Amino acid sequence: MSITKIFPGGDSRRKITVQSIQQKKTDQQRITCLTAYDYASARLADEAGIDMILVGDSLGMVVLGYDDTMSVTMDEMLHHTRACRRAVKQSLLIADMPYGSYHLDEKDAVRNAVRFVKESGAEAVKLEGARTELVKRMLDAEVPVMGHIGLTPQSLHTMGGFKVQGKSLPAVERLMKDAVALDRAGVFSLVLEGIPREVAAMITAEVKTPTIGIGAGPQCDGQVLVLHDVLNLSFGDKPKFVRQYADVAAVISQAMKAFKSDVETGLFPSDAESYHLPRETQAALETITERKRAMRR
Ligand code: KIV
Repeated sequence: MSITKIFPGGDSRRKITVQSIQQKKTDQQRITCLTAYDYASARLADEAGIDMILVGDSLGMVVLGYDDTMSVTMDEMLHHTRACRRAVKQSLLIADMPYGSYHLDEKDAVRNAVRFVKESGAEAVKLEGARTELVKRMLDAEVPVMGHIGLTPQSLHTMGGFKVQGKSLPAVERLMKDAVALDRAGVFSLVLEGIPREVAAMITAEVKTPTIGIGAGPQCDGQVLVLHDVLNLSFGDKPKFVRQYADVAAVISQAMKAFKSDVETGLFPSDAESYHLPRETQAALETITERKRAMRR
């Protein structure tokens, strides 16, 4: 079920809601999700018809240049979510709760989730791990929650590195239990990251909530990728699940080098790229200059 909203200019498009995301699973339609972190990228994703835009804490690595996602703060996430909010009309806008914003105290966690809705216009939040009681508390506060299990980057130190999860039988059982528990707690979707495709397929068949895979194979209900990986803007080695759809780094780099060369050789700006004086002002200026010259003679 989705609300039809009329946008300025008579553009009638469907607003994606948590309900329409869930309906897509029922209708066996694949769900698309990309990360975005600023006005331009969020606007392009929205206009491309991407169902969900996640302001991921991957922000910390791909935009802010930190070594991991754990350094990202609430203020940074709020700032970037606000920028995306100003761009997004149709897609569902989700804010990723940063490390430390929901790990210490439940009340604080709910307060932080509410801040995302109230202060940045997010329509849902995402949190990592099987925190079922917290999910329920957030739903009580009217904040829809996207779950995230498997390779959860905020658990980097406890996992001992970015490693594929759910490879042994006990690990598969743990993942399945966590997925079912989060499903029952009421998450509106569940990110499955870095797990064998067979495990993701089993979870997807078992839970009501749509599963959104990243490095979890093709049988999830939808897929998410980090935009900067898709565009080759993330520098360094990419995990094998990433498909690069464009080389934007090459395009930007080529444009920057061409600008440098044009400025250095005097080719930029051209006359057409310059402002001109009105004819009368030009004529008056020439008369004054000529008079000054004559006086000096
Ligand atoms: O922060 C992020 O980008 C994410 C997605 C990759 C799921 O959590």
